[in-house]
Amino acid sequence: MSNHLISIDDLGAEGLTELLDLSDYFLEVSGRRIPKVPVLRGKTIAWLFWEDSTRTRLSFETAAKRLSADTLNFNVSSSSVKKGESLRDTVETIGAMGIDGIVVRHASAGVPRQISQWTDAAIVNAGDGWHEHPTQALLDCYTIRQERGSLAGLRIALVGDIKHSRVARSNVKAFAALGAEVTLVAPPTLLPPTLDGWPVKVTQDMDEACAHADVVYLLRMQLERQEESLIPSLREYTSRFGLTSARARALNPRTLVMHPGPMNRGVEIAGDVPDLANAVVTNQVANGVVTRMAVLYQLLGSGAGLVPELEVERV
Ligand code: NCD
Repeated sequence: MSNHLISIDDLGAEGLTELLDLSDYFLEVSGRRIPKVPVLRGKTIAWLFWEDSTRTRLSFETAAKRLSADTLNFNVSSSSVKKGESLRDTVETIGAMGIDGIVVRHASAGVPRQISQWTDAAIVNAGDGWHEHPTQALLDCYTIRQERGSLAGLRIALVGDIKHSRVARSNVKAFAALGAEVTLVAPPTLLPPTLDGWPVKVTQDMDEACAHADVVYLLRMQLERQEESLIPSLREYTSRFGLTSARARALNPRTLVMHPGPMNRGVEIAGDVPDLANAVVTNQVANGVVTRMAVLYQLLGSGAGLVPELEVERV
């Protein structure tokens, strides 16, 4: 892996597998009585979130704290950005303080890559516009691997607002790199203008897709990113593409139901579906912490052999 994690392309199958294996160590650490190791002691990580977030921010923050890093929360709404300070000046100011890592979320695609050219800090993309959200893909792959052992040969139905989804872009790459077959299930208006280079099949038949899927992955209807009316009505969308209670109950009991959150209950997923035994939405959140520990450790750690390092610190 390079000095940054901006796209799944930075990892490839090998890099992904390495991070998933590393996450197993951090899962063990997270289960300890004191779930903390000093491997990033003395390192400082700043959060630069220009867009709202609940789970991604809290999960990065938990991950950093479990690795004993110091964290700095840069609150855009109370910063000099409000006085018109440019992105570059903001980043250079933070860089001048000797920060080791910056976790960035921004509404524009390409901002994390741009920032990586202005600072020596390691950059982690926590979501840029419609472009990518690589740590979401990582935690999703980890959750599937935990349940099924491997992604190879699994059929994954990715359902909903693909067009506006950075999760879809990162997840398609990661799922395909690890050998899964991905089918997009969406009305044509919610697909990107071109799918050239996407290793996917496409269907509009949700029932058919559900019947064959090992994983049904629902995306949030991203109404805040839609400038025009792309669906006739939410009710119609739900009846054709939603994971309704009836569809969820007709699934093979081994078929996993996933969602990156935040969920629009009653739109893409019925209110009771996340509570079903095969829904792993809360496992995804828990795995967000361990996989982000792996990412931060790999980018900022000493590079020393991890196992001895963690063994010594066992409490
Ligand atoms: C996603 C995001 O913000 O990209 N959420 C998340 O990080 N868990 C998906 C979304 O907002 O729909």
